[in-house]
Order: sequence, then structure tokens, then C-alpha cells
Amino acid sequence: MDLGISGETALVVGASEGIGYASAKALLEEGADVLICSRSADKLKAAAAALRASTGRDVRWFAADVTRAESVQMLKAWVVREVDHLDMLVSAVGGSHRALFEDLDDAAWMASYEFNVLGTVRVIRELLDAMRKSAGARIVILGAAGARMPYPNQVVSNVSKAGLIALVKTLGAEFHKYNIRVNSVSPGRTMTSLWKNRVAQMSKDQGIAPEKIIEEFSHEIPMARFGQPDEIAPMVVFLASHKSSYMTCQSVLVDGGIARGLI
Ligand SMILES: NC(=O)c1ccc[n+]([C@@H]2O[C@H](COP(=O)([O-])OP(=O)(O)OC[C@H]3O[C@@H](n4cnc5c(N)ncnc54)[C@H](OP(=O)(O)O)[C@@H]3O)[C@@H](O)[C@H]2O)c1
Repeated sequence: MDLGISGETALVVGASEGIGYASAKALLEEGADVLICSRSADKLKAAAAALRASTGRDVRWFAADVTRAESVQMLKAWVVREVDHLDMLVSAVGGSHRALFEDLDDAAWMASYEFNVLGTVRVIRELLDAMRKSAGARIVILGAAGARMPYPNQVVSNVSKAGLIALVKTLGAEFHKYNIRVNSVSPGRTMTSLWKNRVAQMSKDQGIAPEKIIEEFSHEIPMARFGQPDEIAPMVVFLASHKSSYMTCQSVLVDGGIARGLI
């Protein structure tokens, strides 16, 4: 299937590893001209080299921290220097925070909001003009299955990720006047650094083998295993492509069935 994005421009934020990296790779494989961003220049340099080696395509990178407004303004300045306009924007920054409500102060709530919502808002705001110059841009935001089926002990990320679903619904309607579509992919448990670090910490704290912890978490998933980043990326690319031309305002689960609600 030709997704129609060969030669189109894409920025993937949060692309030095994990789902963002897998999405950048899949976009490159479809022939898109891909720019990548995250905080660490070292990680980006390594990611760009790995992407070049595996796809044979050039990748340009810029280090920016989406939790800092001035950093996102610098990202915008770089993007408009690199490309005339932006056809696709993927925001893959965010994460979950395991803590009980009683243990969370205002700073923890604000940090989660900044990381999971405001960072993406800033990137979209700064790059809106570049996307308006496209014949019809597409925004894809990484949400989380936890927004549709709130996980225990993760109140702060459940709430902030649910905010992203509202953001997608609102912006999809608001940006139709610019011919920009806005959708989201909501992954379930996906084996990236996020989980590797969490499992390593739990293993250390509880004295349980990492494999046993992964097995326990897998029991709750109908497909009985974690997902891999390259199982999430195809949905990101589909939503970023012209093949999803009648889709906007949607949050699509790619979660091995873990979110059990009917809607
Ligand atoms: N993995 C899962 O199980 C899972 C489940 C549900 C939802 N999700 C969502 O999917 C998205 C990707 O998750 P992931 O598991 O792939 O994460 P990950 O492996 O931790 O990768 C996160 C990426 O974002 C970059 N990043 C982190 N903070 C940043 C910041 N402040 N500014 C710019 N870049 C930043 C990181 O690179 P640097 O260190 O270089 O900044 C890295 O490239 C997130 O929105 C996450 O909430 C993941």
C-alpha cells in the first residue's frame, strides 16, 4: 500500500529511542524526509546514525526540551530553516508516574502536566505556521491506554494522558479550517526504556527476577505479552499518512487488548 508520504516532511519529537524512534524509522522507510528531536544530543547523534544505517536515508536532528518554552522556540527556528513547511508532526514525549494520590504534591502534578500535555501543546503551537503551509498537515500524538482504562497507582499520568484525548478531540475540529488532521495513538504496555527502567527498579526493590515481573504485568494483557515499539509505529505512520484521510479527532488503541472498555 502506498501511503503517499514519500518526499513529504515530518518532525518526530521524542525520537532518540522507543516509540518515537520506531516511528521515525517507519516514516523514513515510507520515503518521508524526517527530522528528529529529543533532549540529548548524544542520543540523537546515535539515533540518526542508526537510522541512516538501517534505512539508507539522511536524518537531521536537533536537541530540544519540550518542558522549556524557549527550547521549543529554538526547535521551531531550526525546523523552519531546515524545511519550507511541515506535513507531519509526531509527538512521542511523555511517560507515566507510579504513585498514590496521597504521595503527590502540586509540583508532581505540574511536572506530569508539563511532560505529558504542555510539551506537546508547545510543539504544536510553535509549528502551526509551518504546518499551515502544507497542503494538509497531520498531527499524531502518543497518548496512553491508561487514559481509556485508568491504571491503579498512576493517577497523575492517567489524568494528564486523558487531557491529551481532549486535546486531540478539540484541535481536530479547530484545525479543520487549516486542513490539518489531529489524531492520537494510545499504546498499551510497550517494551521501551520506560518499562526496562521500571522493571529493573522493581527487581532491585523487591528482589524478584525481571522476567518474573514482566510475566506478572503480562497476565493482565489479553495478548499476554508486552508490545514492541515497531508494533506501535505502523499506526502512527498510518495516521500521519494520506490513507487515514477521513480520520481526525481519534485516539486509537494499540494495546494488545488491555483497555477493556467498549468505547
Ligand atoms: N512504553 C509504554 O509502555 C507506553 C505506554 C503508554 C504510552 N506511552 C507513550 O508513548 C510515548 C513514547 O513512550 P516511550 O516508551 O517510547 O518513551 P521512551 O522510550 O522513554 O522515549 C522517550 C523519548 O522522548 C525523549 N524525551 C524525554 N523527555 C523529553 C523532553 N522533555 N523533551 C524532548 N524529548 C524528550 C527521550 O529522549 P531524550 O532522553 O534524548 O530526551 C526519548 O527519545 C510517550 O508519550 C508515552 O507516554 C508509552
